[in-house]
Amino acid sequence: MRIAVFASGNGSNFEAIVRKKYQKAEIVLLVTDNKNAYCIERSRRLKIPCRIFPYNDYQNKQDYEIAVLRLLKKENIDIIVLAGYMRIIGSVILDAYRNKIINIHPSLLPAFKGRNAIKQAYDYGVKIIGVSVHYVTAEVDAGKIIAQESFRIGNRSFEEVEAKIHRIEHRLYPRVIKKFFDK
Ligand code: GRF
Repeated sequence: MRIAVFASGNGSNFEAIVRKKYQKAEIVLLVTDNKNAYCIERSRRLKIPCRIFPYNDYQNKQDYEIAVLRLLKKENIDIIVLAGYMRIIGSVILDAYRNKIINIHPSLLPAFKGRNAIKQAYDYGVKIIGVSVHYVTAEVDAGKIIAQESFRIGNRSFEEVEAKIHRIEHRLYPRVIKKFFDK
């Protein structure tokens, strides 16, 4: 299984995914829409080829995705793993990779979709919080759930909750990839 990771920012999940050992799954490419993203630096360090597609260089989402898709096909990518990719996947890529795109979201879906999910949940006063890995569909954060992990907030501060969420992400996402795509 040849896997491409898509990221727009920090890339800590990208790094966690790359650092896990797999038998057959291979992380062969990082795609980013943001030329200033820190994930690019990580890809250099980790020796994973990175391709930058500055979103504003394209007329519209369709043209952008056609360019990305051309590379995915050329690289024989089987699976797309979204890790902090801040764009909605459009029909060009979705049609080509139906049921082959997964995402990680820092909430117990279907609650708290969209941006700042940890803050949304914390401010709402939930007592149990967590992380979901799910298939990507046309609707944001709405595809079938593959895995979830949760914990009780107790008296943790927001910063403590956030840090714990990220620790869970970095453990859970590579495990899901190993379980589902390492064969
Ligand atoms: C993670 O919290 C992930 O769940 C969300 O975006 C964040 C990305 O963090 N989709 P990073 O770029 O992997 O550090």
